[in-house]
Amino acid sequence: MSYQARFKVWRGDADGGGLVDYEVAVHEGEVVLDIIHRLQATAAPDLAVRWNCKAGKCGSCSAEINGRPRLMCMTRMSVFDPAETVTVTPMRTFPVTRDLVTDVSYNYVKAREVPSFVPPARLKPGEYRMRQEDVGRIQEFRKCIECFLCQNTCHVVRDHEENKTNFAGPRFLMRVAELDMHPLDAADEAGVDRRQGAREDHGLGYCNITKCCTEVCPEHIKITDNALIPLKERVVDRSYDPLVWLGSKIRRRKE
Ligand code: SF4
Ligand code: SF4
Ligand code: FES
Repeated sequence: MSYQARFKVWRGDADGGGLVDYEVAVHEGEVVLDIIHRLQATAAPDLAVRWNCKAGKCGSCSAEINGRPRLMCMTRMSVFDPAETVTVTPMRTFPVTRDLVTDVSYNYVKAREVPSFVPPARLKPGEYRMRQEDVGRIQEFRKCIECFLCQNTCHVVRDHEENKTNFAGPRFLMRVAELDMHPLDAADEAGVDRRQGAREDHGLGYCNITKCCTEVCPEHIKITDNALIPLKERVVDRSYDPLVWLGSKIRRRKE
């Protein structure tokens, strides 16, 4: 089935802009990104959009479709009523570069602030062993495609630009959780306290576990339940029960 759809697309740049109306053909099986490409080929050749894979894997085509943060390449036109006007706007939390393209460098700054994995000094490469259950637990987080939809959605920064300095956002708190759960990470031996860092450097306390980040994740990662809440529990253990911290150190030495 083909039909003419009504679209409203945000056009503008850092100095301002607004929604522009378009009528555009839609064909069976198409996704929102196809329609944006058709607009580029017809009525709006200078429309800026970022994309790469068109397969939900590169994380480039994030936008807000009818106000909901989504990947344009994974949003089928069939989910909309043909009579409905589809509105496409750039991610709201990041500064607009042009049209649907935003400057997501906040995320790269936050990524650099998370201390990387520290290999255990007591083991040589090739001697690393992990239990399957430990692999399984952190494997989920490695599915992240860095689309930053969770970062865009989190109310801590979405409506509060001033929090960006102190808050890493769900994607990077999840990275801290992943490393803190990693049985081979030797950060503490290198003087890096990941739990203290989560609280003092990455703003874990700002998160009030609303789960909005989880709801928009295209990889269906349970960011809140499996990363943020366990990290909060570990931080509390560390803060209020020094025996837990001592016990974990002794256990690691024995392994
Ligand atoms: S659960 Fe935490 S990180 Fe996720 S959206 Fe809510 S406040 Fe932000
Ligand atoms: S956790 Fe999910 S929503 Fe957040 S950046 Fe990764 S894939 Fe995107
Ligand atoms: S174009 Fe790669 S995720 Fe959409």
